[in-house]
Amino acid sequence: MKQVLLSVLIITLLSDIPNVVADSLFNLTGVVGSTSPYYTSPGHPGNNPHNLNTYYRINGRSSSNVITVSFPFFQLEKHRLCNFDSLAIYEGPTTTARLIGKYCGTKSFFTVTGRGQYMYMNYRTDRNIHSIGFRFRFSIAASNAPSCDQLSIGGGPNSGNITSPNYPLNYPHNTDCRYRINAGSATRIITLLFTAFNLESHIDCKYDFVEVHTGFKGNWSPTSKKYCGSAVPARQVITGQQYVYIRFFADRSVARSGFQMRYIISGGGSCDQLHLGGEPGSNGVIFSPNHPSDYPKNIMCRYKVSSSCHNNTIHFTFNAFNIERNAQCRWDYVEMFSNCTVTPVSLGRYCGSNVPDPITRRTACMSMKFKTDSSVTMSGFNITYTISGSCYGSTGVISSPSYPMNYPNFAQNNYVVKPPNATLIRLGFNDFDMEGTESNNCRFDSLTIRQGNETGPILSKFCGFLGSFTREYAATKLTLMFKTDRSVTRRGFQCVYTKV
Ligand SMILES: *[C@@H]1O[C@H](CO)[C@@H](O)[C@H](O)[C@H]1NC(C)=O
Ligand SMILES: *[C@@H]1O[C@H](CO)[C@@H](O)[C@H](O)[C@H]1NC(C)=O
Ligand SMILES: *[C@@H]1O[C@H](CO)[C@@H](O)[C@H](O)[C@H]1NC(C)=O
Ligand SMILES: *[C@@H]1O[C@H](CO)[C@@H](O)[C@H](O)[C@H]1NC(C)=O
Ligand SMILES: *[C@@H]1O[C@H](CO)[C@@H](O)[C@H](O)[C@H]1NC(C)=O
Ligand SMILES: *[C@@H]1O[C@H](CO)[C@@H](O)[C@H](O)[C@H]1NC(C)=O
Ligand SMILES: *[C@@H]1O[C@H](CO)[C@@H](O)[C@H](O)[C@H]1NC(C)=O
Repeated sequence: MKQVLLSVLIITLLSDIPNVVADSLFNLTGVVGSTSPYYTSPGHPGNNPHNLNTYYRINGRSSSNVITVSFPFFQLEKHRLCNFDSLAIYEGPTTTARLIGKYCGTKSFFTVTGRGQYMYMNYRTDRNIHSIGFRFRFSIAASNAPSCDQLSIGGGPNSGNITSPNYPLNYPHNTDCRYRINAGSATRIITLLFTAFNLESHIDCKYDFVEVHTGFKGNWSPTSKKYCGSAVPARQVITGQQYVYIRFFADRSVARSGFQMRYIISGGGSCDQLHLGGEPGSNGVIFSPNHPSDYPKNIMCRYKVSSSCHNNTIHFTFNAFNIERNAQCRWDYVEMFSNCTVTPVSLGRYCGSNVPDPITRRTACMSMKFKTDSSVTMSGFNITYTISGSCYGSTGVISSPSYPMNYPNFAQNNYVVKPPNATLIRLGFNDFDMEGTESNNCRFDSLTIRQGNETGPILSKFCGFLGSFTREYAATKLTLMFKTDRSVTRRGFQCVYTKV
C-alpha cells in the first residue's frame, strides 16, 4: 500500500514539470535511387523531451528494395542494455519484424541496412536525463538479387524443413537468405535440428555461413551463433522467444551442398494460471515465464488466486522483482487487482527493481496481470501467495495452475482440503496427465497427497497418465502438493473433493 501511495505522489509531483508525453508516428517515403533530406529527433539539437515514444516508418515502396539509414550524429543516454533512452531499428513495417539492433550512447557515423519494403524505428526516452538525440537520412536502392527470404515460417505449433537454395545441389554464389520462424507466442518452444550441413569452411566463418539469432541481450546487438564447414550444428532448443531469425550467406566463390534443417514448434500458447489458491493453509509460487532468466517479449499472463469465502485472507509476498522501469509502468508491468470480476479494481501497477511491499486482502479472489512489450526484457518476478483464515468449503474443485493448458515448469503449489466435520475425504479426479511414471517414484513431476499439512505423512504420490479415478482417505484434512521439474509439461489434473 505504501508503494502505491508513494508512486501516486511521485506522479503528482512530476506532472508539475513541463513534459512532452508523445506517441507519434512519422511516415517517410522515397523512390529507388533517391536520398531523403536529413531528419532530426524531436527537439534536436537541443535536449530531447522526456517520455517520448516516437516511431518512424520508412516505406521503400517495393519488397525487392534495400533501405539504408545513415546517422551522422547520434547521442543518447548510455546504458549497457539501452534500457533508458534508445533507438530500436526493425527490418519491416512494425516492431514484430526482425530487430536489427537497439542503439544508445554516443556513436560516430554509422549506417543500418535492411531489405524489403519497410524499415521501422522506435525512439524512446524515459523521464530522467536528457539525450541530445540524432540526425538521420535514408536512401533506397533496388536489390540486384532475387529474394530467397522466407519470413513467414511457422505461426503456431507445427514443424517443417528449411534448406539452402538448390539443396542438395550446390548453393549459388552471392546468396543472402533470411528465414524467420514464428512460434506464435513466446511461451512456446522452438527446436532447431540440422539434418545436413556442408558450407565453405573458415575459422571465423567469414565467407559462407548460417547465422541463428535467438535472443536480444548484452549490448542489444542480437545474440547469434554462426556456423560453417561440415560439422553438423548441435540441436538448439529455444525458449522465451516468439521469433527465431536465421540467415544464410554465401560469398562470390566456393559453393557446397548447403544445409537442411528441421524446426519444431511445441508447447502451449498461454502463460495464464487461473487455478491458484485453495482453502486456508494453501500456498504456492507465481513467477514470470523463464524466471530467473529474462521474461519473453509481447506476452500477457493472467493469474487468479481464489479461496472458498470472502472471510479468508490472500497474501502476496514478493521474493524477487525486476521489470523494465518506467515512471507510469507503461511498457512492462505487473498489475494487481482486488477481485476477479470482469472489470476488477486495480491496486496498482508495479515495475522497476524495487521489491514491492507485501499485499494482503480479505477477499475470496485476487487477480494479477503481467504484460510485456516488444523490447527490453529482464529477470521478472517470483511471488509467493498464501491463504489464511478459518472458512473451509465442504466441496470444491482443484486444478493444476494452467488447466486445461499445460502446467508450467518449476511449479510449486499446495492445496489444502478440509471439509467441515469430515473424517473421510473423497478426491474424484476427472482428468490426470503428468510427466513421469510411478516406477521411477514420480521423481520428475508429481502430485503428493499428505495427511494434515505439508509435513504430514504421505498417503499417495501420483504421476503419469492416469485418466479419471477416485480415492478416499480417512483424514480430517489433506494437503495436495503439486510439484514440477525443469522440463516436459502436460495438461495436469482436475479433481473434486467432498466429505464422504
Ligand atoms: C502512417 O501510415 C499508417 C499506415 O499506413 C497510417 O495508419 C497513419 O495514419 C499514417 N500516419 C500519418 C501521420 O500519416
Ligand atoms: C523433412 O526432412 C525429413 C528428413 O530430414 C523428412 O523425413 C521429412 O519428410 C521432410 N519433411 C518435409 C515436409 O519435407
Ligand atoms: C470488487 O471490488 C470492489 C472494490 O473493492 C467492490 O466494490 C466490488 O463489489 C467487488 N466485486 C466483487 C464481485 O466482489
Ligand atoms: C521462488 O522463490 C522461492 C523462495 O525464495 C524459492 O524457493 C523458489 O525456488 C523460487 N522459484 C523460482 C522459479 O525462482
Ligand atoms: C472471519 O475470520 C476471522 C479470522 O479468521 C474470524 O475470527 C471470524 O470469526 C470470521 N468471521 C466469520 C463471520 O466467519
Ligand atoms: C459440524 O458439526 C457441528 C457439531 O456437530 C455442527 O454444529 C455443524 O453444523 C456441522 N457443520 C457442518 C458444515 O456440517
Ligand atoms: C503441521 O502439523 C504438525 C502436526 O500437527 C505441526 O506440529 C506443525 O507445526 C504443522 N506445520 C505447519 C507448517 O503448520
